[in-house]
Amino acid sequence: HPPFLHSRSSRDQRGIIEEICKTVIKDMEDYGICVVDNFLGLAKGSEVEREVLSMYNQGVFKDGQLVSSRQSRGDLKTIRSDEITWIDGKEPSCSAIGHLISRVDAVILKANQMSTSGKLSRHTITGRTKAMVACYPGHGTGYVKHVDNPNRDGRIITAIYYLNKDWNIKDDGGLLRIFPDWGDQVADIEPVFDRILFFWSDRRNPHEVQPAFRTRYAITLWYFDAVEREEACRRYKNECRASIHPNNSSSSRAVKRPA
Ligand code: OGA
Ligand code: OGA
Ligand code: MN
Repeated sequence: HPPFLHSRSSRDQRGIIEEICKTVIKDMEDYGICVVDNFLGLAKGSEVEREVLSMYNQGVFKDGQLVSSRQSRGDLKTIRSDEITWIDGKEPSCSAIGHLISRVDAVILKANQMSTSGKLSRHTITGRTKAMVACYPGHGTGYVKHVDNPNRDGRIITAIYYLNKDWNIKDDGGLLRIFPDWGDQVADIEPVFDRILFFWSDRRNPHEVQPAFRTRYAITLWYFDAVEREEACRRYKNECRASIHPNNSSSSRAVKRPA
């Protein structure tokens, strides 16, 4: 296991958040990446899974954005991308997702408060986006190499919670590969059930989702650095007021690679 991967078997709620916070502070300092397994436990994680699957089956997810990709012969081909929906956690049918959001908030806010020196302590985290529930529908869909926040839009930490039981990376693909700027190693993260991943959202962590061949679900929250967010809101005041959703360019999202 890489040093930033932490598996916990203890289900003792007391002290777990604090334990995770210490882990997050240390790994974000040393690696800029932190993975924690068994984040909610089987029961709570399965409730989140049920809510997501139920929304998906009801067609709540936005149709995959149609993105265009110029193929080698020059013909313009339209390709289906991932499908997403934004959740604030207060929706009646999303109470488990709401619980997940509260837990992640607690970890990030407490870790931010607990950090007295080092990289995390230099930020004041006071806000975040809504939760983005994303589904890669299989058929080789992925997400090309990108940086979540290349241009100081305010997002400092990306938190991704994975929902995929019995995920077999060899057959199912869908690996998240991070190319951290501190070395020539890559960090390969399998999108397995009840795993949460944190990483710096800026240029320190370019990453890609490799083609997935089975339906792949994840829930992402982006946390804001208060100062950077304030500056970004001043720069783009209309956009900022209209929406707290990150303004990811849709053109690079979930592009199926040419064979
Ligand atoms: C993203 C992203 C990674 C993943 O949505 O920006 O990089 O593992 N997702 O789902
Ligand atoms: C960067 C960057 C993207 C990439 O690290 O500055 O834009 O594809 N990376 O490597
Ligand atoms: Mn990303």
